[in-house]
This record gives sequence, C-alpha cells and structure tokens, in this order.
Amino acid sequence: MRTIHIAASREYDVVIGRGLLRDLGARAKDVLRGRSVAVVSDSNVAPLYMDAALESLYAAGFTAERFVFPAGEASKCGSTYLALLNFLAEKKLTRADALIALGGGVVGDLTGFAAATYLRGVDFIQIPTTLLACVDSSVGGKTAIDLPAGKNLAGAFYQPNLVLCDLDALDTLPPEIFADGCAEVIKYGMLGSAELLDRLRERHAREQLEYVVSKCVEMKRDVVEGDEFDTGRRQLLNLGHTFAHAIEASSDYTIPHGRAVAMGMRLITRAAVAKKLCPEECLRALEKLLTAHGLPIRTECSAETLAALALSDKKRKGGTITLVVPARYGESELRTVPVGELIDWAKEGLKA
Ligand code: GLY
Repeated sequence: MRTIHIAASREYDVVIGRGLLRDLGARAKDVLRGRSVAVVSDSNVAPLYMDAALESLYAAGFTAERFVFPAGEASKCGSTYLALLNFLAEKKLTRADALIALGGGVVGDLTGFAAATYLRGVDFIQIPTTLLACVDSSVGGKTAIDLPAGKNLAGAFYQPNLVLCDLDALDTLPPEIFADGCAEVIKYGMLGSAELLDRLRERHAREQLEYVVSKCVEMKRDVVEGDEFDTGRRQLLNLGHTFAHAIEASSDYTIPHGRAVAMGMRLITRAAVAKKLCPEECLRALEKLLTAHGLPIRTECSAETLAALALSDKKRKGGTITLVVPARYGESELRTVPVGELIDWAKEGLKA
C-alpha cells in the first residue's frame, strides 16, 4: 500500500492499494466532520461496489444515501448535476455532511462539481474505480460537467478530502476500459518520464499496477502542487487533449476519452515531428506503446473538423491556444500558437 500526500489548497492523501473499499468507513471517519454522506455512482459501478461501500460506512456509524445515474459521458450534464443537487437538498444534507464519488471519471467530475457548489461547498471523497480515474481525474481537484458547446466547460477547482484507489477494482475492468486508462498513463510518460515509458515498453501496465498508479499520482502531485489553478505547468497534463476533446465532440462522445487521448497524442507528436520539434523515434515509440496497450493511433476526423472543434476548447485564450508538444522521449513543452495555425498542426498530424 502507498500513501501520497497532496499539499494543495486543501491537503489530502491519495491511498493506493488493495482491499481499501472495506476500510472506507474507518478512513472516512478520520477525514470528514459529519456522519451523513451521499454515495454517488453510476449504473455500471453501483451493482458492483455500492453495497460494500454502504456496509463499511454503516459499520463506522455513518448514515448514507445513494444516488445512481445512467453510466456514460452523456450523463455528465446539467440535468444530472441539478438532479443530484435537488436530491441532496431533499435529503437535507447539511454543510457538515459529505459526498462520496464511487466510479470513473464521469462520476468523479460530476460529484466533485456538486460538492463544490452544494451549499457553497461540502466535503467529498473520491473512490476511483477505473485506471483513468485513479491516475488522473480523481486527483488534483478539477471538477466539471459538459455543456452542449464542449467538454468540461462548467466546473470548479475543488480538492477532495481523500482519494482511495482500490486496485482490486481495476482487475475486473473490461479490457477496453482498462485501455482507456493506459492512454493517460502513457501520457504521463510522454510529458515527463522516460523511466515510465521504458517500464511500459518492458511490461504491460496491467502487470505493474501499483507502480504505474503511484508513479502517475506522484507526477500529478508535483504538477498540481506547483500550479493548482492551471495557469502554467499543469497545462502539460493536457498532452493530446486539445485534439482529443475535438475527436470526442465530433463523435457525439461515443469515442471514449482515453481512446481520443491516444489519437490526440499521436496526432500532436506526428505534427511535432513534421515541424522538426521532436525526433521521429519518439513518435515510433509512442505508436508502439499505444498499440501494445490496445489503443488506436488514427482518427477518421478531418483536419478542418479538428481545428474548428478545438477552438471551443478551454485552452484557447483570445487569438492564441497553448498546445502541449512532445520535444524528446519523456519530455514535452508548452507552445502558444495563433489559432489560425491549428489547421496546419491538424493536417501535419493526420499524415501517416
Ligand atoms: N486532467 C488534467 C488535469 O488535472 O490538469
């Protein structure tokens, strides 16, 4: 078991290990003020883990409500968010009470945003049940819902009180959901760790889960502690994401985030090679790693669609947009480019 402490505007631990769901009640008691909670989950995860979570909470003396919504990115929207807030109000949760997010990135982002805004902010615990949520979305306090105009366009920076990454939940993930998380893991290697890339080339992420999750969370801690509110280095965590969000939006969110990140990373790396900003070996290593982890490397989207959709991305500031561009094996850089150049990056990135 590993505990990684995050010293952000709120300090908290990320605990990584096995069998952690059984200890939820006891650990929640240590970090929460009240003894009433609402456990929020989706229709895929609730049948697997809700009873175990509630049992542990009851045994520790909590009263707990459950709120379950249909699984899928389409639920990360204003209507589910309002339904959750209304549920909390109907159940009369107070400022001393807390929310517990039990699920993947959609559950964590939506629950976190509700926690940030219900009664102007209540405590919350993240229990990520996918690899993607363990290594990225549950840590660092980004919470959000999607708007019709784009992904994560309404949200708040709001740190949790505790993150419990129970690796047992990852053993039973369907291969394609596990692969989605591998895209974010490979992203961490590409943006700042040749060691992580080397380890992934030797062995599949599934065979070294504790190392992989701990390494990514440590890297995320270092970035978040230096730039919690995403004005500088934290943007490195968006490697591949500008075009990934465009790919997701163009598919009406039927292409999952991880797959889109894989395509987006390959695209930006290919463009960087064409612009002589990154060596070709880096692109070839990335392609091999993505393929070995069951991820796609090409998108069907046109350059025009990618550039147009990328313009509604949060990373746009007036006439410029900051791209994360691989520079070497295990190292990426931020580059601010005029939005008019996006189409050229997309065209270069789509080449074979
Ligand atoms: N997922 C990117 C970040 O937390 O900044």
